[in-house]
Amino acid sequence: MTDKELLAQQAANQVEDGMLVGLGTGSTADCFIRELGRRNAEAGLRVSVAASSTVSAILAQSLALPLVALEHLARLDLYVDGADEVAPDLTLLKGRGADLVREKLLARASDRFLVLVDQSKLVDRIGERFPIPVEVMPFAWQLVKRSLEALGGRGELRRNASKDGLAVSSHGSLILDVVFDPGCDSKTLDEFLNDTPGVVEHGIFRGLASAILVAADGRIQERRVAGC
Ligand code: 5RP
Repeated sequence: MTDKELLAQQAANQVEDGMLVGLGTGSTADCFIRELGRRNAEAGLRVSVAASSTVSAILAQSLALPLVALEHLARLDLYVDGADEVAPDLTLLKGRGADLVREKLLARASDRFLVLVDQSKLVDRIGERFPIPVEVMPFAWQLVKRSLEALGGRGELRRNASKDGLAVSSHGSLILDVVFDPGCDSKTLDEFLNDTPGVVEHGIFRGLASAILVAADGRIQERRVAGC
């Protein structure tokens, strides 16, 4: 079993009968969705799910997991997703998949947000390995880019997978991938980005994760915010 499959199994074991579960996006989230589909069918769990992206919704549908549309959601029992970086205070960097708004909405709406990563995702500071994805209204990207320069940010519009156009989120936003100086802490960046007009959402998830499952060489460790 791979580390991702092990993480998926451990997360799926935390799902109880009748729960409403949020599905993340990415290769780790895919493993979890498959494992949840299997458990739901074999153990008759009667779960319902809400998806953070169209690809995750399609996968859930193929596994006969009953989907609830976001517009019908008030809360979730559990949200399970991967991350690109995890800082020591459990702040996350997410968004290589571009659907930041739905991911953050589900993370915020859920009683518990469980994050699945391997140890290569653990960093000392957010932005250490990846630029910060900033989802912007298409007409606002130049103005947002200029605003972020005030904090030393250098941004590029993300290209699509085939590099012949721009990446567009499932509801039509563009993505600026922005590099900030190492001295810029994630709290300052989070607050600045939350306060910048034209920014739809961004990839810093602060104070949202309830627990992180970290895989390393076939073993899983759980990390929680102190006091939770
Ligand atoms: C998508 C995300 C993913 O959770 C993140 O990119 C990790 O992906 P993977 O599990 O494939 O490593 O934030 O927007």
